[in-house]
Amino acid sequence: MIIHTIEELREKIKEWKKQNMTVGLVPTMGALHNGHLSLIKKSVEKCDKTVVSVFVNPIQFCPGEDLEKYPRTLEADEKLCSDAGVDIVFAPSPKEMYGEGHILSNDFLTYVIPPFFYTNKLCGKSRVGHFDGVCTVVNKLFNIVQPDFAFFGEKDRQQLIILKKMVKDLNIPVEIIPCPIVREESGLALSSRNKYLSDEDKKYALALSQILFNIKACYNKGITDVKALTETAYSYLNEHHSLEYLEFRDADDLEEKKIADDNTIVFIALKISDVRLIDNIALK
Ligand code: PAF
Repeated sequence: MIIHTIEELREKIKEWKKQNMTVGLVPTMGALHNGHLSLIKKSVEKCDKTVVSVFVNPIQFCPGEDLEKYPRTLEADEKLCSDAGVDIVFAPSPKEMYGEGHILSNDFLTYVIPPFFYTNKLCGKSRVGHFDGVCTVVNKLFNIVQPDFAFFGEKDRQQLIILKKMVKDLNIPVEIIPCPIVREESGLALSSRNKYLSDEDKKYALALSQILFNIKACYNKGITDVKALTETAYSYLNEHHSLEYLEFRDADDLEEKKIADDNTIVFIALKISDVRLIDNIALK
């Protein structure tokens, strides 16, 4: 069942809560793939009722990013959700979420701003304001749906760490359930943005997972010096890759690591033909 308005969704949630049912929320921007389906499957298994939100959130896109061309496939998304046992697909319009006129500047909208220490690095460095937009919309979705559990992919690991911090700092009564990255057989992490890649680009995109798997293999052999581990990446890169970052950071607070340990996440972002791809791996 698809619902477009907050009011109608709230009625449904109220009914479920009256019956003491647990509610799971899977927030998405649509263009659903098997990565999303793994989150949805977890929610359907764990919760009495599952809501999947499909909303391309304009306030998390920076100027010059792909807001207009971001893939929108609501009909297909709805079918995938109903086949997977989802109870409600919540697909609001920007106007429903942000009001008349879509005034999206932070002079006109109450934002949730995560700590600078968490956002001034990795993706936050090139996507200024992105995580403010993410935290604001996720906070709104939490207030609208009031889920017991919310499911987020480890693919967007910085987002996951920031959202966990938001839930803790603001005492939001929801449990965040992290879900592992789903990869193609080739190793490429699934992403809605993979749709922008040509077959040729997809071959170059394998560098991301190859670099991460190789770093993990070296770590497992006993190499912990981050400089040495970083150097292992260069042989996978060529003129088709524009490396944005390759960084080793703490899994809880994103502090930089000079010596890798079991609580280290290796983060990578690179561009291929102007398509920005990210991936990460936990060394444990
Ligand atoms: O990860 C995403 O798809 C989005 O950032 C989210 C969490 C749905 C918020 O718009």
